[in-house]
Order: sequence, then C-alpha cells, then structure tokens
Amino acid sequence: MTSSRRKFLSNTTKIAASAGLIPVVSLFTKANPKHVSANDKIVVGLVGARNMGFGILNHALNQPGVECGAICDIDDSVLDERIEEVKIKQGKKPTRYKDFRKLMENKDLDAVIVGTPDHWHCLVTLAACEAGKDVYVEKPMANSIEECNAMVNAARKYKRVVQVGQQQRSGNHWIEIMERIKSGKIGQLRKVQIWANFNYGIGQPVVPDSAVPEGVDFNMWLGPAPERSFNKSRFHGSWRMFWDYGGGLMTDWGVHLIDMALWAKDVNTFPIATVATGGNFAYPENAHETFDTMSVSWQMKDYAINWEHTAGTQNGPYGRSYGLAFIGNDATLVTDRSGYELFPELENGKYKVPAIPKQSGRETHEPHVQNFLECIKSRKDPNCNVETGRMVASYAHMANIALRTNTRLDWNSSKGNFGKNEKANIYITPSYRDPWKLPKI
Ligand SMILES: NC(=O)c1ccc[n+]([C@@H]2O[C@H](COP(=O)([O-])OP(=O)(O)OC[C@H]3O[C@@H](n4cnc5c(N)ncnc54)[C@H](O)[C@@H]3O)[C@@H](O)[C@H]2O)c1
Repeated sequence: MTSSRRKFLSNTTKIAASAGLIPVVSLFTKANPKHVSANDKIVVGLVGARNMGFGILNHALNQPGVECGAICDIDDSVLDERIEEVKIKQGKKPTRYKDFRKLMENKDLDAVIVGTPDHWHCLVTLAACEAGKDVYVEKPMANSIEECNAMVNAARKYKRVVQVGQQQRSGNHWIEIMERIKSGKIGQLRKVQIWANFNYGIGQPVVPDSAVPEGVDFNMWLGPAPERSFNKSRFHGSWRMFWDYGGGLMTDWGVHLIDMALWAKDVNTFPIATVATGGNFAYPENAHETFDTMSVSWQMKDYAINWEHTAGTQNGPYGRSYGLAFIGNDATLVTDRSGYELFPELENGKYKVPAIPKQSGRETHEPHVQNFLECIKSRKDPNCNVETGRMVASYAHMANIALRTNTRLDWNSSKGNFGKNEKANIYITPSYRDPWKLPKI
C-alpha cells in the first residue's frame, strides 16, 4: 500500500469514526485479498440482471480481457434471456444462479455487479466482500443510512474495491466542471440549485394484487423487506416509489445530482441541518408512497444546497427538466448530462468572467466501468468509493426522513443519529424480515 493511500484510508477511518459511524477496531482485520494481476482475465458475476445490472455487465464485456462467469436473478425469464445474450456475446454460457449466496461460492469470480433493487444492495455487497470479491454496486448505495455504514465497513475490512454506480464521477464534462468551480471560475460558490422533474416519479397505475408470475421467486425478491402479496406496480422497474425498496425520485436521481453539489467542495461530512417540504399532492390514481412534490434545503458550512422536484412535470429552470445551477459571486454554471454553460455576472457593464457557450456532455457509464476494472488490478480506490456513495445516499435519505417526520434534522456526529429526534432516528436502520439480519461489521 502506498503511503498516500494509507494516509487516505487512515483519514477516512478517522472521519467516519469521529462521526460515530463505524467501529474502528474491526477495520483491516481478516482481510482476504484476491489478486488479479495486470495480464489476467477478470471474471465477473451479475446479481440482478433485468435492466441496469445488465447494462453495466455489457459495458464490462465490451472491455478486453473480461468474461461473465455467472448470472443470478430471481426471475427465470430474465435469467434465461440474459444468459442466452451473454452466450452469444462471449461464446460461453455463464453459470446460472437463482440464489446470490450460491453465486458467492463460485471461486472463479473476481468481481460482482449488483443490479438489484435498492433494498438488496447492502446484503449482496456484504456477501461479495466477505467472499473476497470486488463489487460494482448500483446507486443509491443502499436503502438506509445504517446499511451504507455496514457497506463502508465491509469494503474496508475485507479490502475490496467497491465502485458505487454514480457514473458522473467518471464523466469528463463533470470533471471539467469541478475543475472550473474549484479553480475559482465562478468566484465564491454560494449556492447549488438542483431540480429533477421526471414523469416516472408519479408511479404506475394502481392494480390489484395478483398471483406471483411463474418462475419468479418472490420471497427472494422481497428478501429483507416486509412480507406482502405480489403486485405488478411495485415489482420490476416500479419498486422505486415504495419505501420498503427505494426512496423515490429523491434517492433515485438525487444521488447523481446531489453528488455533484458535494463534489464541488469535496464535502465528506453530513449536513448541519436538513429541512424538507412537499408531499403526495398529485396522481392519487397511481401507486406510489414516495413524494411526488418536494423541496429540500441542506444547511452546509459555507454554502447552501437546494433541491426541487415536481414529478409528472417536465419543465425546469434554464429550459432543462433536470439539472444543477452552481451559483457563484462571479457567474452561474448550469449543467445536466447533455453539457454545461456559464453565465457571467455583469459589473460596470462588463462580464466579470468570460461566458462559456454550451459544452457537450459525454456518456459516463463506460468510463466508470473501465475505472472499476482498472482498480481491480491496481487495488486503487475507484472514482466513486464507498465513502462517497454513503455520503450522498445519506443526504438523500435525510431529505426523505425530514419530510416523512415533518421535522428539521440536525445530525449528531458523536452519536451517529438525529439526537433526541426519535421519530427520525427510527428511519436510520431498517427492520429486516426474518431470517435476514443486518450484520454488525
Ligand atoms: N446508475 C444509473 O444511471 C442507474 C440507472 C437505472 C437504475 N440504476 C440502479 O440499478 C438498480 C436496478 O434498477 P433496475 O432499473 O435495473 O431495476 P429492475 O427492477 O429493472 O431490475 C432489478 C433486477 O434485480 C432482480 N432481483 C431482485 N432481487 C434479487 C435477488 N435477491 N437476487 C437476484 N436478483 C434479484 C430482479 O428480478 C430484476 O431482474 C437500482 O438500484 C437502480 O437505482 C442505476
């Protein structure tokens, strides 16, 4: 380990420990590193294959020297289709699993991609880390703050490379934006305005519960979430709008965009305070629990971060349905995934800084996956490490908790909770359904 990496890990540990988040004693013990040298092939397994997980697997398979050794899903139809597709792509069938615990026993796998719904991210990642496999886990890192803490502990304890799927961290135009802001091109950054107006935030039409589709292990889909009967509107693709499995627009898009607001000042501490307003004001005919309308403010040390979403509308500031405005003394930098532009302030009839016309954005998944694969070999920390994933997921969860409890949240860093706000503290750790347990790591 290089001295800079040792120093980084040591600092990270101190920050997290001082925030009351992790027990220091368990770090860096019982490590079981699995070594892939520079010329070795990397064999990956996929857990959760329907949509994004398969997209990430494809990006990995597009790189030289990568093979898919296994796919796991609880749905036979998804599993069979994806296995066939991979066989065509690489000329070899990956091993088929319906239980991720069995996949973890596969000694050929160097790494695991976790593409399940959010409520499964933590347990699958913990199992992979314990089995000595590196992990690409989709965002938000987990469905609660305490699950994120457990994942940070596991990644560090077992010395695993864990990349969180906030791919903008590997995107050139986002890196360029951060350089411009940090080098003072907009003057002092005072406020970041974020908005995210998307139709899917209003959920799917209400439909009655029905029989579990053939070939689906619904008990394993629910996993640690409460037992309930099957309902199509809370299953594949639409689970995001139900608290047991996701956090709605706030966690789904929030982690991508809030992450940029934190990156602009390299924030690695929780907000001083979180305040939220809004509710479920529209589309009662649709099935959703997460909020369709939401405004959030995070109080930071030397700037403010504000969030707005109005699901079901698609207009927004600067003619963009979603985006960020970094507001500085000298200019406002406006951006989304399609690119960025800079609007300077005027002083005595002259621009304070040069205007920047629209610059184009680029695809970010592929470089994020490439970065993960490089780190498997170099053992460096990836572009979106577990601490970064935990930080932004926690900001997003805090916003939801503030509105669910209708309280202002003040984080108590020595206790690792919201102090005497018991209503809010309940949401830090999920109650898992037997036999699933959230392990203390
Ligand atoms: N980074 C991005 O831009 C991006 C984009 C879309 C989705 N995502 C994230 O990807 C994840 C998956 O989203 P999606 O849209 O692909 O969801 P999805 O519902 O389409 O697919 C999830 C898959 O996981 C499977 N699954 C569920 N429980 C499982 C278990 N215990 N074992 C194995 N398989 C299991 C399901 O059967 C399904 O095939 C989410 O966390 C989401 O936030 C990220």
